[in-house]
Amino acid sequence: MSKIAILCSGGDVSGMNPAIKQFVEYSIENALTPYLVYDGYEGLIDNNIHPASYADVSGIINRGGTKIRSARSMRFKEPSFRAQAKANLDSHGIDKLVVLGGDGSFRGVEKFYKETGIAFSGIPSTIDNDIAGTDYCLGVDTALNIIQGALDAIRDTASSFKRAFVLEAMGRDCGYLTLVSALTSGAELCLIPEVKYDLKAYERLFKQQIEDGRNYFIAVVSEGVDQSAQEISDWFEDVIGIESRATVLGHIQRGGNPTSRDRLMAYRFVTEAIDGLIAGRKDSVICYNNSRFNYKSIDDVVNKPNVLDPELLRLAKNMM
Ligand code: F6P
Repeated sequence: MSKIAILCSGGDVSGMNPAIKQFVEYSIENALTPYLVYDGYEGLIDNNIHPASYADVSGIINRGGTKIRSARSMRFKEPSFRAQAKANLDSHGIDKLVVLGGDGSFRGVEKFYKETGIAFSGIPSTIDNDIAGTDYCLGVDTALNIIQGALDAIRDTASSFKRAFVLEAMGRDCGYLTLVSALTSGAELCLIPEVKYDLKAYERLFKQQIEDGRNYFIAVVSEGVDQSAQEISDWFEDVIGIESRATVLGHIQRGGNPTSRDRLMAYRFVTEAIDGLIAGRKDSVICYNNSRFNYKSIDDVVNKPNVLDPELLRLAKNMM
């Protein structure tokens, strides 16, 4: 029987556990022997590779994070460690890999494929939603729901006092999480790296709104903008003249039980990934565009700038 392995690389996302469950079950259904690689590419190098059965993946569908852990591996960038990884896979007879990760993880496994012939399917998995070739990355919906819950809770306090609240969301250089969270929470201000802003433009408007009876403000800012949430909060106090607090959500955004959408997307991504490998595809990334899955080459996925949906930007134009 042909043998296939799965690993997680880079930041964990909620949705990885359902993906691992489907990987094991769908592999067995298709007469493939499934293996779990612990600790990402580090586990490939250290031979932390184990055959899996149904029992290994029972009770994980509802859990965030990843049962097989994830890692960012510096060693996998070195040819000698990649050779070690290949020797380990050979020792188990594994010739196919499913990789859950982001751009960097896909570049690494592409290089590995070219050197060793080990076929792979990549599944875009990052809360940042910053992979150019796909509209959706696994874990995004859960992260958005966590942020929305936090903003709903903060609104309770903001409206009970006369205060501004500035919430900083993750996303590295991509403003997707911030943009959608600001829209779905009715924020007054949304600052993202992709759009130049000038706080001066809001001075008169916000002061006027206070005069007209506005009691509180919600601002959502990306970790990638050039001012911190605290600095924006200070601006509300010093310039707009309203008491303000900053909240940095941090890694709370990466955890939590996967939403129904992420569980379903995990199942669908993995099914496409395994189908592709069975059909003989050697080096593809599974992308989701216009509500359809498709197989793309690594160059189509990572070698272009990620562009935010202009329709979303248009909806948010009054808050940025
Ligand atoms: O890429 C996912 C992400 O959570 C980013 O949004 C964030 O900037 C980064 O990872 C944090 O990385 P770490 O977990 O290494 O602190």
